Amino acid sequence: MSTMTSPVGNWNYPTKVRFGAGRIKELPRVCESLGMKKPLLVTDPGLAKLPMIAAAVESLKSGGLAAAVFSDIKPNPVGRNVEDGVAAYKKGGHDGVIAFGGGSALDAGKAVALMVGQSRPMWDFEDVGDNWTRVNEKGIAGVVSVPTTSGTGSEVGRASVITDEASHTKKIIFHPGMMPAIVIADPELTVGLPPHITAATGMDAFAHCLEAFCAPGFHPLADGIALEGMRLVKDYLPRATRDGKDMEARSNMMAAAAMGATAFQKGLGAIHSLSHPVGAIYDAHHGLANAVFMPYVLAYNKKAISERIAAVGRYLGLAKPGFEGFLQWVLDLRRDLKIPHNCRDLGVEEGRLDELAKMAAADPTAGGNPVPADVAAMKKLYQAALAGTV
Ligand SMILES: [Fe+2]
Repeated sequence: MSTMTSPVGNWNYPTKVRFGAGRIKELPRVCESLGMKKPLLVTDPGLAKLPMIAAAVESLKSGGLAAAVFSDIKPNPVGRNVEDGVAAYKKGGHDGVIAFGGGSALDAGKAVALMVGQSRPMWDFEDVGDNWTRVNEKGIAGVVSVPTTSGTGSEVGRASVITDEASHTKKIIFHPGMMPAIVIADPELTVGLPPHITAATGMDAFAHCLEAFCAPGFHPLADGIALEGMRLVKDYLPRATRDGKDMEARSNMMAAAAMGATAFQKGLGAIHSLSHPVGAIYDAHHGLANAVFMPYVLAYNKKAISERIAAVGRYLGLAKPGFEGFLQWVLDLRRDLKIPHNCRDLGVEEGRLDELAKMAAADPTAGGNPVPADVAAMKKLYQAALAGTV
């Protein structure tokens, strides 16, 4: 019974994952197995104050590991945060990174691990062309990732999203070696998340699966993972949002988040292209922004994705599985989760649409959208999301 409601597993793809409630207690042994004696635990300032982090540091200490905490990072981490983390790593003589938290902490921690052994500036490794080949691979520190939300999936991702303060743009820093060596996926760590964060982060996982599934290209592995990830969100996100202590729901959402990030190696699309600038300029919550833009982008992509979406609708067992039925189900789910319908609630201002649209069209995720979306199309999408007309 207990294994059914709160499943446990050891997985070896996309990396080593120790999945299950209570498995955070394995942190010291996991660090040791990677040769760490003095890891730097990177987290966010909110989490740093919670007993969860104190308990992790204490368990590392009693396991013979002298860990230090670095938590000087913003909700949408900026380049400066990574530089400061690298400085703390070097000053403390650390030998590995524990990236512990939601997407921001995971991304910052992974970027710190990348940058401790590089001579080039981080922006040289932006995910464009073959920039990643510039990385000194031997310089990347080992990473243990510990997610405390179920959304980003960054715990199993090979990139970090970092905001460039100079241009106020979100950049994707990528290298295959940024994949954490070991993940501790302990759904108990998500039990304290309030309903609105549970909902917003869960919708990020859903956006990853949805956009990956609809992205062009031949990648049946990603498609299969994306499809099942969407089912898990449908079956468990409303439950996890309603009752944060529902461990079956928390467990399945944590799995769905990892599945989303695994699937989006295939590609993302305009939901993320519209959401990234809004995160960079207004510090809007990433998952929330994705959830707001989702139906507008679905409608824009309709002609290219109707058949694929009908397949999703059938798999999800929707009463009306066609495109319109799926779109209506997304709108209903959003309402159920108390996600705003209008992007004004994210801070978006009419007067900045040209700027936002230009950034959205230049976002690296735009290329994965099934219907090409240029600056004019992105502006129309922002306008639709301001008018609330799907
Ligand atoms: Fe995302």
